[in-house]
Amino acid sequence: MVRGVVAAHGAPRVLRSLNDADARGLLKVMSAEPELLNVRALRTVVDIDGTDYVIVDGVDLDVHAGQSVALVGESGSGKSVTALSIARLNARNIRTISGQAMLEGEDLLSLSEREMRARRGRDISMVFQEPMTSLNPVLTVFTQLAEIIRRRPVARSEVRARAIALLESVGISTPEARVDMYPHQLSGGMRQRVMLAIAIAAHPRIVIADEPTTALDVTTQAQILDLLRHHVRNMRAGMLLITHDMGVVARYADSVNVMYSGCIVERAPVRELFARPAHPYTRGLLKSIARLDRPRVSRLPAIEGLPPQLTSRPAGCPFQPRCAYRVARCAQMPPLAAVGASHEAACCRAAEVLESVTPDAGMAVMETTDEAAAR
Ligand SMILES: Nc1ncnc2c1ncn2[C@@H]1O[C@H](COP(=O)(O)OP(=O)(O)OP(=O)(O)O)[C@@H](O)[C@H]1O
Ligand code: SF4
Ligand SMILES: [Mg+2]
Repeated sequence: MVRGVVAAHGAPRVLRSLNDADARGLLKVMSAEPELLNVRALRTVVDIDGTDYVIVDGVDLDVHAGQSVALVGESGSGKSVTALSIARLNARNIRTISGQAMLEGEDLLSLSEREMRARRGRDISMVFQEPMTSLNPVLTVFTQLAEIIRRRPVARSEVRARAIALLESVGISTPEARVDMYPHQLSGGMRQRVMLAIAIAAHPRIVIADEPTTALDVTTQAQILDLLRHHVRNMRAGMLLITHDMGVVARYADSVNVMYSGCIVERAPVRELFARPAHPYTRGLLKSIARLDRPRVSRLPAIEGLPPQLTSRPAGCPFQPRCAYRVARCAQMPPLAAVGASHEAACCRAAEVLESVTPDAGMAVMETTDEAAAR
């Protein structure tokens, strides 16, 4: 079950649908930005007791300079494995069997492990939900930051000043003292800020943020996501923001990819997706968001049923067992197809789903800040 709580991020605002001219304009702006990351036909399998099961099934993703692109879906849909496949950090029993992950024209999947190590931290960095899994408990914050800072040319005498400035930039008070501390001497929120400082220390082209704030209180969550977005825009870098929280998507993403059972089932600019969801699964996700502009209900509608098990994915559309729109032809897997300018959905009844969407049906979702609304 997925529930996003938009209420946590401030006052609501109902999004309006893009008309075609808006959408074409947005498409033009987005495609005018240089392309940073282009993932094509990514396919990743997991070995369980000697049998390979597909976890990521032909994923395409694009991130442009200055853009935050969300990857959203229920637990187990394959979001983290997609990210880890791009960064080539998957567990030993998981391997990518085909596809490309082009970072500024260079396929990360065809680099040697040595070349890839040189790019991690420098050109591509990751922020995870639990900083203690990424921070080294026996090294000080300075040692860990300095290692990444040195991945770009820098005078030896400047490294410490740069480390302190980075900590300050991510909102750590008294950074001169904290830079010499060990991770266990810092609070959870501070550790996440250190992770963020490490992630941006070498000015990476792409930051992959995998549920970067889920474990944090609402205020720290908003501050950290604001910092990340600010960095991405300032540096003309890109962010792949992984989350199951549609409220976070509404506030921080420029465009959205909805993932279900290893596949991207819908993608669109954020306003378009929230105003005109074309896939029944996306509609379910949006219906389960808490709304501040509606009377309080005792229970939010959840998507009935469970996602398919890895070991027993249905043939055809993977959403079939839970879909109210299901018909016989859903036994064939529908391809991602255009349903509007820069809007695609993998549903054979997407046109009918779109026809049935009205702003009052709970499909229009809120923005939360004036800045976001002005996007
Ligand atoms: N090392 C592993 N061995 C076996 N199965 C795995 C392994 N890693 C991931 N999986 C399975 O692959 C599927 C996708 O996992 P993934 O971690 O990408 O999900 P997710 O979308 O990130 O979920 P969450 O929102 O809970 O983080 C899940 O069914 C998960 O159980
Ligand atoms: S293809 Fe069929 S089962 Fe899948 S989401 Fe569309 S209507 Fe539902
Ligand atoms: Mg995950």
